[in-house]
Amino acid sequence: MVTTELIPVESLSRRDRASLDRRYLPMAKVVPGFEWDAVAPYVIAIDRLKAERNAVIIAHNYQAPEIFHGVADLVGDSLAMAYMAAETEASVVVVAGVHFMAETAKLINPDKTVLIPDLEAGCSLAESITGADVRLLRERYPDTPVVTYVNTSAEVKAHSDITCTSSNAVEVVESLGVPRVIFLPDEYLGQYVAENTEVEIILWRGHCMVHERFTPDEIRRFRAAYDGDIQVLAHPECPPEVLAEADFVGSTSGMVKRVDVERPPRVLLVTECSMAANVSVNFPDVEFVRPCQMCPYMGTITLPKIYESLRDMKYEITVPPDMAAPARRAVERMLEVGRGKGG
Ligand code: 13P
Ligand code: SF4
Repeated sequence: MVTTELIPVESLSRRDRASLDRRYLPMAKVVPGFEWDAVAPYVIAIDRLKAERNAVIIAHNYQAPEIFHGVADLVGDSLAMAYMAAETEASVVVVAGVHFMAETAKLINPDKTVLIPDLEAGCSLAESITGADVRLLRERYPDTPVVTYVNTSAEVKAHSDITCTSSNAVEVVESLGVPRVIFLPDEYLGQYVAENTEVEIILWRGHCMVHERFTPDEIRRFRAAYDGDIQVLAHPECPPEVLAEADFVGSTSGMVKRVDVERPPRVLLVTECSMAANVSVNFPDVEFVRPCQMCPYMGTITLPKIYESLRDMKYEITVPPDMAAPARRAVERMLEVGRGKGG
């Protein structure tokens, strides 16, 4: 029997209330008190369910602060999430992120139960390509290896030689030791890789619906508004003309490292905007300017849905065995290449 009750804040034990206060204090600047009070019963219920189910919550940097700082056991970028999934001892992994992240966790952990709190948590990049598209590309460019961004379905991964993330894309491409690769599905990440390697890159025209919205003019306006006194860090899923305006290009974890090392007084994170809220909690001395582009898919994950996920053990990720084996090989091959310089 698992404990499923939601206890109103005023009826919580002193210990539970102290635990809520400890978590809330650092994020008070980014989560209004009334919002935290509304979700506090879920936070305590999730704590209990995690212990009873031997579960961990792995959260992406784009998750809402009350998830990221409130209940997640492990947080990071897509690559870090894959390593965390590979290393955890827990029997249940709840992925606070999008579907491809949960599928990757399942590929690496076939014997664990992997849950995603909302099946609608998709990704515009993952939707831009199918396994049949990859087969056609292979016919068109025989003997050319396929490097696939993790932001894809297991079916697409199964037709690929190796996966990559924005942290290690250049290293993965170069690890193959070939003059030419097919890189999919993110055209802009592919163009960024092409600029940083001698390997010829054949592109696919998938885009992230969040990062493609940024424009160079917008970045220039932010610089002008702060008299140039701002560091611009951009994600490589942005269009090349946006990256050309940036001081640094890297994965979400790469941006966090950059802030940690350089401690600029003011930064603009050209990426999904929940990330700036999450990171600002850990760097109170840095001002984060937030161009607000939200990912609607990441935003489908909420504390009540995480609670229901652990309560009802839903929604369980499964991958058909014939697809899982080649997709797993492609992911494991990436993990062997390592973390790269981009993150
Ligand atoms: P990273 O966190 O790996 O940089 O990926 C960004 C992203 O868009 C994930 O959906
Ligand atoms: Fe996909 Fe872009 Fe959302 Fe990431 S931010 S999940 S790449 S749509």
